[in-house]
Amino acid sequence: MRRNTFTRTMVAAAATVSMLTLAACGGGSDDPATTGGGGGSSQGGDTIKVGFSQLGAESGWRTANTESVKANLTKENGFDLTFVDAQQKQENQIKALRDFIDQGVDVIAFSPVIETGWDEVLQDIKDADIPVVLVDRTVDTTVADPFVTWIGADFTKEGVTAGEWVKENHPDAKIFELQGTMGSGAQTNRQEGFRSVVGDNVIGEASGNFTRAEGKAATEAALAAYPDMDLIFAHNDDMGLGAIEAIEATGKKPGVDIKIVTVDGVRDGLQALVDKKFNYVVECNPAFGDQLAELIKKVAAGEQVEKSTIVVDEAFDQTITQEFVDSRTF
Ligand code: AHR
Repeated sequence: MRRNTFTRTMVAAAATVSMLTLAACGGGSDDPATTGGGGGSSQGGDTIKVGFSQLGAESGWRTANTESVKANLTKENGFDLTFVDAQQKQENQIKALRDFIDQGVDVIAFSPVIETGWDEVLQDIKDADIPVVLVDRTVDTTVADPFVTWIGADFTKEGVTAGEWVKENHPDAKIFELQGTMGSGAQTNRQEGFRSVVGDNVIGEASGNFTRAEGKAATEAALAAYPDMDLIFAHNDDMGLGAIEAIEATGKKPGVDIKIVTVDGVRDGLQALVDKKFNYVVECNPAFGDQLAELIKKVAAGEQVEKSTIVVDEAFDQTITQEFVDSRTF
């Protein structure tokens, strides 16, 4: 059966122009799409009932993203938000989505923990005529037009940016890749982007499920299995922070004996960069709750919205200052 796959790679090509637009005006997008459904929402003064299924609380990035969503989908801003944390379990997310159907919300927003396995519930949401806004990660489904719009980062580009820094600064690196949750868009696309640049240098890989504890455990195993590895590419800051603990426990110096490149740029990650334990951090900005709120308002009103909105990211090396880290809002 033909799958309706929506990947960052597809978005990335179309997003170049829109990213310039984003840099100029703080919002942005590519090809337009018309919203579907919207059943009886709140334009004209009523509140918009939103069911939001967050995938978990696995990382500093996720905590910051949740805070941004909750700070913007407020009563004062016209929303009646039901927020459910799925604790990194797809079955919990599917249950929450079904509950949202039963509650008759105006809009369903969710951040899918992995890409596949959503066909049935997405079809049910569609049959209930409730518009879907995808947040952060993406889906791979046989359902036609499974969502109205998506907002998130270009994970493939993040991987490419990390790979280009490694290629330029450590072209002979022996790399261990500390992957995120297997089957998530953030894992598959960061891996794809990174390996398109320095794939030949990767000597080992394992998943740390985007958490500090599992990142530490995976690094401990990797230090034993790949004694000559000298660079870790961690798919997020938290796993990189776990790697620091594992490396220091062996008496080696993170950032020197074993270089560490990560993605996210949350305050703890940037602190490790200032402390010279991380070497390079590609940003994945979680604070897009304001843009999400605007999109949901338009979707609920049945207005035209862009099919995708790419959140703009930066990248940081060890030249950032302590003042910069202290002023970080996430
Ligand atoms: O989907 C975004 C990723 O999910 C972030 O990079 C990571 O920290 C989080 O767990």
